[in-house]
Amino acid sequence: MAGFDHTSVLAAEVLEHLAPRDHGVYVDGTLGGAGHAAALLAAVPTTSLIGIDRDPAALEAAREKLAPFGDRVRLVHGEYADMPQLLADLGTPKVDGILLDLGVSSPQLDHAERGFSFAKAGPLDMRMDPTRGKTALELMTELDQEELADVIRDLGEERYAKKIARLIKEAIAADRLHTTTELAAVVAQAIPIVEQRKSKIHPATRTFQGLRIAVNAELVQLERLLFAYPDLLLPGGRCAIISFHSLEDRLVKNRFRDLAWTTSLPRYLAEQAGERVEPVCELVTRKAVFASDEEIARNPRARSARLRVSERTDAPNVAAINGGPSPVSRSR
Ligand SMILES: C[S@@+](CC[C@H](N)C(=O)[O-])C[C@H]1O[C@@H](n2cnc3c(N)ncnc32)[C@H](O)[C@@H]1O
Repeated sequence: MAGFDHTSVLAAEVLEHLAPRDHGVYVDGTLGGAGHAAALLAAVPTTSLIGIDRDPAALEAAREKLAPFGDRVRLVHGEYADMPQLLADLGTPKVDGILLDLGVSSPQLDHAERGFSFAKAGPLDMRMDPTRGKTALELMTELDQEELADVIRDLGEERYAKKIARLIKEAIAADRLHTTTELAAVVAQAIPIVEQRKSKIHPATRTFQGLRIAVNAELVQLERLLFAYPDLLLPGGRCAIISFHSLEDRLVKNRFRDLAWTTSLPRYLAEQAGERVEPVCELVTRKAVFASDEEIARNPRARSARLRVSERTDAPNVAAINGGPSPVSRSR
């Protein structure tokens, strides 16, 4: 598809840490413009790739870009949280590596009709998959004022959330809220001018981020994949996740660390208690990997990107065997 222009972040670092193996099968759960996917396929000519995206426009662009790799590529329209089922349906329940590059792609932001941008007027949509789910306007209409403030505060990390939610609800009641630029103007009214002058970002940035994360249930998607991924990887297989938001990065960091944890109980007691005696996964990156200054200068979006990588051991996954709770939900 013409006009799908997205610069992949941390491209060299992803390849280095995912370390694709000869004849390996890799899943890109957030295929987007297929920049990372194409780099992986080109780097190791015996690999094959399963690409998943919930956005049909992204898949169409990726199909074109990956055409030169022929039958080494299989593409699926879906959500990466459904990866266990999607991989089972393809007859490839376990793979050598999984990549997630979270968030939105540049074309999603740039095409006003998708409703992600406060800079250009578009419908209040924000769905990555326009074929299903509620639009941003439907969500803002359905939530009560307090719930809306929670979304804007918790997912947008916006301190003026309460006032913003009140003004949004008033604008909806008066039938004055239809476009992204109208929403941006309502949000701006709630933020003191002195704050706006001090800030380097548009006053609506955080509110749009919070709404986008809620509309697309982005944290739920990530939690589900983090719970499932150890059972999708072959021993030595790796899961690499790039996040752009501190809430996402915290989920990734905690889950990767938890799977690398082992009990200090003696083995026989640990086994009786259903505790882990061997790590299910090991940390490939002890600390998050950030983009270089040079990459940030070229692509400012890379500034907030953080990459973390985890490697499957050959130990059994105790929680899965016992049907125990996921460490993610346990920590809540
Ligand atoms: C940042 S872009 C990926 C860019 C890609 N890595 C590249 O190099 O071109 C994120 C993509 O992930 C998709 N996406 C986000 N959340 C998803 C989910 N839960 N399931 C499937 N696709 C998702 C978006 O539609 C978008 O196309």
